[in-house]
Amino acid sequence: MKNYALAVIPGDGIGVDVTDAAMKVLNTVASRFGFGLSPQTFPWSCEYYHETGAMMPEDGIETLRGFDAILLGAVGWPKTVPDSVSLHGLLLPIRKAFNQYANIRPHRLLDRVEGPLKASAFDILCIRENTEGEYSGAGGRVHQGKSNEVAIETTIFTREGVERILRFGFEQARKRRKHLTSVTKSNAQKHAMVFWDDVTRELAAEYDDVTVSQMHIDAMAAKMVMAPEQLDVVVASNLFGDILTDLGAAIQGGLGFAASANINPDRSSPSMFEPVHGSAPDIAGQNIANPIAAIWSAAMMLDHLGEAEAAKAVLAAIEDATRQGVGIRPGSHTTDEITAKILGVLEN
Ligand code: NAD
Ligand code: IPM
Ligand code: MN
Repeated sequence: MKNYALAVIPGDGIGVDVTDAAMKVLNTVASRFGFGLSPQTFPWSCEYYHETGAMMPEDGIETLRGFDAILLGAVGWPKTVPDSVSLHGLLLPIRKAFNQYANIRPHRLLDRVEGPLKASAFDILCIRENTEGEYSGAGGRVHQGKSNEVAIETTIFTREGVERILRFGFEQARKRRKHLTSVTKSNAQKHAMVFWDDVTRELAAEYDDVTVSQMHIDAMAAKMVMAPEQLDVVVASNLFGDILTDLGAAIQGGLGFAASANINPDRSSPSMFEPVHGSAPDIAGQNIANPIAAIWSAAMMLDHLGEAEAAKAVLAAIEDATRQGVGIRPGSHTTDEITAKILGVLEN
């Protein structure tokens, strides 16, 4: 029997509730599909920070390296720990250290879920560059007296980084509707963004079976709302992909539906699976967070581990639940009710 070592980091706020839901679903499919899971839970969070002065131990990355995959809830409790400390102490270093450069974020409107748009066809796959770009951390603050203070944040695109994420997007497009939209802002930013556009054109010539559109991020945001049916695979830089995927989540019916996989495609280190949303302090501890994004992310993890049938069963159970009207609008059901419905479908 195959057995997977799973590092589980529930994190903060609703991260804890939705990870608990995802683990229940994982345990259920593991026994149904005949594989084993050895989960180890790590309490790394803002609470952990208060206790120890760090978001994770010094050897945290080395500890995680030995696992087959990482399941994460959400990180951040800005009331007591600045986001610049919590996210840079846990989530972002994991993505970088394990070279999880491809952040896959599927956006699809599930049956009966009420999105804000009239369009019923909404099915895009956002591929977000996940290790460099606007998140490179290059920059600083130059103090020359308060009135002359300067803050710099530099976007870094490397040939390797841009080429590999675009290639990843092209490969995904080949498996879908063979259309790729590359998103930049090269009319305003004339170095990094123009470079990304150039690499897109080079690769487009190579992947000539894929239709390529190049769009600016502003027009793209409008298109996602006005004509999402014209989109298939969307490839974007770290920051642009971050913003577009909250928009994608909203069109899907809310942050509670959007799943995400931080993938290291060469598998030299573990990949990490987490919902797109954060710790949602405004609804934490109320049993009202939608666990579907986390459960869907767990399904993406199963698929990555090679348990494709189990992954399909989890997605089918999510779809069955919404088809039966469970979790289709904010507040319609509790976290426990949605989880129980999905478990019920899986057990039958
Ligand atoms: P958020 O995603 O936590 O919340 C935004 C809004 O969406 C809130 O109104 C929230 O209630 C709602 N929401 C989010 N998830 C939901 C769910 N599953 N079901 C129902 N409603 C849901 O974004 P934020 O408020 O900007 O961030 C809160 C904290 O989380 C911050 O510290 C932020 O940095 C962090 N954050 C972490 C991650 C991550 O760990 N991957 C992602 C985003 C934000
Ligand atoms: C996400 C989050 C993170 C990001 C934050 C919390 C650093 O918003 O995963 O979408 O911007 O990548
Ligand atoms: Mn985000």
